[in-house]
Amino acid sequence: MAEFESSTQAVPETGVVPRHVAIIMDGNGRWAKKRFLPRVAGHRKGVETVRDVVKSCIKSGVEYLTLFAFSSENWRRPPEEVSFLMQLFLRSLENEVEKLHSNGIRFKVIGEIDAFDPRIVELIRRAETLTQDNRRLTLTVAANYGGRWDVLNAANRARQDDPHAPITEERLAPYLSMSYAPEPDLFIRTGGEQRVSNFLLWQLAYTEFYFTDALWPDFGAEALETAFNSYRRRERRFGRTSEQLAEDEPMPRVG
Ligand code: IPE
Ligand code: IPE
Ligand code: MG
Repeated sequence: MAEFESSTQAVPETGVVPRHVAIIMDGNGRWAKKRFLPRVAGHRKGVETVRDVVKSCIKSGVEYLTLFAFSSENWRRPPEEVSFLMQLFLRSLENEVEKLHSNGIRFKVIGEIDAFDPRIVELIRRAETLTQDNRRLTLTVAANYGGRWDVLNAANRARQDDPHAPITEERLAPYLSMSYAPEPDLFIRTGGEQRVSNFLLWQLAYTEFYFTDALWPDFGAEALETAFNSYRRRERRFGRTSEQLAEDEPMPRVG
């Protein structure tokens, strides 16, 4: 079974700090272009931002951080850029996993990873196994991930396991790639674009959205704090009225 109920089925508990933060790390290419550097220099710099943001999330008490690193549509990029991104992913896995583990971080990858080089797949598997019992922060990297793929894959697997049972939210949940995490509380997209680009379509149903013009390599602890402050000011109603929230009425389940 999935560990967490969906926000359309039950109203989740929410706090002042988002428990699960999901980020589209965008703007690496433009960051490099502004400096007359090749696009890939932006990707390299972007890895430093990942380190910063992971540290800040731990400090703030975030439990789940999910980062969109490579979408199923990113294969459309020039082959040299795709191959650089693969190298960067490989090197990061080689260099960072021990550090993640010693910092109590559980590492997960979601997406169709079989499309990657077998060395990458092996490193991912090893990293996931090594860190599986850590709970200080769950860091998920979405790689060759697409939200539509996730839902279709889950539906097909649910149907395979029981061809006659109708597919309900409860039945689908354990097959979704993030079934080990609550739905994101806060979605951040850097780089100025205001779109979801096939990220966690199903899981973002009741997530708060935050867009910033900051390019990913320029994003950091302070910018993250600004996003958290914006989150803190939101009223998350999950279908209820403000008045009901003020009265703190317990809500019946939907459906
Ligand atoms: C995000 O930065 C990183 C990946 C998609 C891998 P971009 O490479 O999309 O940067 P821009 O949007 O071109 O500036
Ligand atoms: C989305 O960024 C995917 C990642 C950050 C990995 P893109 O820069 O590829 O998004 P679009 O295609 O411009 O929307
Ligand atoms: Mg982009």
